[in-house]
Amino acid sequence: MILELVEYLLTPCSFAMRRLGYLRGQLGIKVRHRQCRRAWKEHLQRTQTTIRAALLDCPQRRKAVVLGSGLLLDVPLADLAATFREVILVDVVHPLRAYLATLRYRNVRLVSVDVSGTAAELARIAHDPLAPLPRAVPQLFCDDKEVDYVVSVNLLSQLPYIPAMYLSKSPPRPESEIDDYARSLIESHLDYLQRLPGVVTLVTDVEKIQIDSDGHEVDRFDILYGVTLPWSGEEWTWEHVPLKHLSREFAYHRRVCAVRNLKSGHSKSASAPTDA
Ligand SMILES: C[S@@+](CC[C@H](N)C(=O)[O-])C[C@H]1O[C@@H](n2cnc3c(N)ncnc32)[C@H](O)[C@@H]1O
Repeated sequence: MILELVEYLLTPCSFAMRRLGYLRGQLGIKVRHRQCRRAWKEHLQRTQTTIRAALLDCPQRRKAVVLGSGLLLDVPLADLAATFREVILVDVVHPLRAYLATLRYRNVRLVSVDVSGTAAELARIAHDPLAPLPRAVPQLFCDDKEVDYVVSVNLLSQLPYIPAMYLSKSPPRPESEIDDYARSLIESHLDYLQRLPGVVTLVTDVEKIQIDSDGHEVDRFDILYGVTLPWSGEEWTWEHVPLKHLSREFAYHRRVCAVRNLKSGHSKSASAPTDA
């Protein structure tokens, strides 16, 4: 508890992003990882394996960009640093361990930015329920011709999470307006990934699954606000909240989808069976 408070105070993070709750959110992930380390291990390893496999698809190896690098739990940083001239870790807030990584790997650089580009405006207008919510048009690195690899790593479902929570505690707005904003953050990120240069990988959780104490599925919840991924990929289950962690009755799993090279043509429409 005391260590977390010290880390909260020492971690570089703007006042606006602290107020929105990004730093607290990331420290929360760190605590949950410590408590659920065994349950999360396979998901984190499979994410790293997907990224390592994608590196083989990169004909050039100048810059690699990791969107949502966070605690680096699911990022094979040593492989990226050995493969690329420069590795750019992008997150709205970088934990102290990411700063340490830049000392260990001289070609690793941190960029602290909200990839949706809407969070600062959200913090500014949230108190006014009549002010329109911002719309995301991400551009970061789109014009950098030296970027040969990008991975969005367990970030997509998180993009609306903190903004929606912040809005729910702000002066009330119609729920449909918050949902529209959340959906637009997800859609604009998917569009952004297609506009980025180089090989692009997406790993994201797409559904939350409620499991009873006998291991049977009870319910499923969409966590992407009705948006379906336009690509098919490898899928696995992430034991996100093991039984007895939050509840004696239920565990919560996540269905994860990993698209190794989303420009390589495995769109859902392209792979859908056609009538003979
Ligand atoms: C579930 S974590 C991803 C896992 C992370 N790769 C790790 O190993 O810890 C989501 C990360 O996305 C970051 N994030 C959330 N919203 C963001 C945004 N709008 N822009 C940039 N990063 C964001 C969070 O700070 C967090 O580090």
